[in-house]
Amino acid sequence: MEKASLVVLISGSGSNLQAIIDAINNGDLHAEIKAVISNQAAATGLQRAEKAGIPTHFVDHKLFSGRELFDQAIIRLIDHVKPDLVLLAGFMRILSPVFIKHYQQRLMNIHPSLLPKYKGLNTHRQAIENHDKIHGASVHYVNDELDSGPIVIQAEVPVLATDTADILAQRVLIEEHKIYPMAIQMHIEGRLTFNNKHLQFDNQPLLKALIWKDNQLNNHHGKLC
Ligand code: GRF
Repeated sequence: MEKASLVVLISGSGSNLQAIIDAINNGDLHAEIKAVISNQAAATGLQRAEKAGIPTHFVDHKLFSGRELFDQAIIRLIDHVKPDLVLLAGFMRILSPVFIKHYQQRLMNIHPSLLPKYKGLNTHRQAIENHDKIHGASVHYVNDELDSGPIVIQAEVPVLATDTADILAQRVLIEEHKIYPMAIQMHIEGRLTFNNKHLQFDNQPLLKALIWKDNQLNNHHGKLC
């Protein structure tokens, strides 16, 4: 089977990008990253990509007079390599409907909360302030509402009494690094499909996200692997 081609959009540390690179290198992910694009020149993720021999692009959103113009510039860069899947990995820009429509059903994001809880920023602080016992992360397809598209996998992480937002973020990130490559591989294998706008997993409607917990993947009937 030919390798799937990916483009990854980042703004910062790029630890999820690193997890994807590592999953490719150890054979868990049958893919090739064709390009990494950042809107921040200082993003550490750019160095991670360069180290892995992946072409990088820095596109400064401040040089564009509007969101759509920036998005169109990114679309041109992405389409140049014709990826099968576009991945947002800590990309801190809201994308315009034009961009989202263009990559409909082949645009994924990872968000550090159990969506639909805590869309947007400061998710870890909110989980602590609300005394949540369980927090986590979600991999989802992107639609035109912020952090709202169909969810593929959620990782559940306990919130401890001693947690600060930073400590909790670290615990969540460890699981993010597992579920993002997993969801990408499912997409690549054709296990995730759409019937109209409804997400299906192995040709069955995915009514509830798959749950990654205690190093096991479950659907709402029980253990998958
Ligand atoms: C992650 O927590 C991800 O869920 C969120 O932004 C953070 C990015 O971290 N979207 P990194 O750049 O992958 O280290």
